[in-house]
Amino acid sequence: MPVGRVDAVRLPAVQAGSPSVCYTPAMTMRTAVFGPLDIEYDEHVLEPRLWTLAQSRWAAELLSSDEDTAPLLELCAGAGQIGLAAAALSYRAAVLVDSSEHACRFAARNAAAAGLSDRVDVRHGPMDEVMRPDESFALVLADPPYIPSAHTGTFPHDPLTAIDGGDDGLELARTCLRVGASHLRPGGPMLLQLRDGAQADQIAAELRGKEGTPLEVVEIRDVPGGGQVLHLVRTHGAPGTDAGRRGRTSWR
Ligand SMILES: C[S@@+](CC[C@H](N)C(=O)[O-])C[C@H]1O[C@@H](n2cnc3c(N)ncnc32)[C@H](O)[C@@H]1O
Repeated sequence: MPVGRVDAVRLPAVQAGSPSVCYTPAMTMRTAVFGPLDIEYDEHVLEPRLWTLAQSRWAAELLSSDEDTAPLLELCAGAGQIGLAAAALSYRAAVLVDSSEHACRFAARNAAAAGLSDRVDVRHGPMDEVMRPDESFALVLADPPYIPSAHTGTFPHDPLTAIDGGDDGLELARTCLRVGASHLRPGGPMLLQLRDGAQADQIAAELRGKEGTPLEVVEIRDVPGGGQVLHLVRTHGAPGTDAGRRGRTSWR
């Protein structure tokens, strides 16, 4: 079943009676219906991928059994739809981070349109520079660029900074893990979106081999029509856990 739909493109209106000119709009504003939200975006941010609503729903499900009311954090938020939907579905406050100022403007605008401005803080900047050291979150969502640099040409319509994940595609994912781990409260979950099973296995193997990492892979889900989502938890820092061995499932 589709989880949403993309509405018709809304172009700026041309004045009635204006002379016939060659008109090229600077931006093409679009709206995507993303679960409970209408999300505005344009060609300078990644187009909302409707399958990623599964990540928001999983976050809300994980938070529903949590009696604490701490906020959630989204790293690499883009126009904000994944984090905003998670915040709306879980009735939580949220911090959304993105290094693109343009994306942050959309995220703030989409938060306002959803009536979430009073509980959503949008931060512009590299994820490892905009967090205060003492900040702690109930859950972390992360949607990093994950296309290997050499393959980004396959996606000419996507903004390069939204898709370029470095040499092996996982450089930003590793930054998300580092930032997420330092801001998750003990026992808190992190949902990291990756491209495919090979990337998921690579990250799980790296965590298994990394002494002292506080993150443990609990589950890897294959999202129909999309990528993979790793569910990690912040343990109390015990090294040598069984990260990545608990199983892979298809989306329920
Ligand atoms: C794959 S897009 C995901 C956007 C949105 N979550 C979505 O699903 O459409 C990755 C996002 O990460 C942002 N980004 C890239 N490097 C970043 C960094 N170092 N810190 C924070 N955000 C970054 C990009 O600007 C882009 O919006």
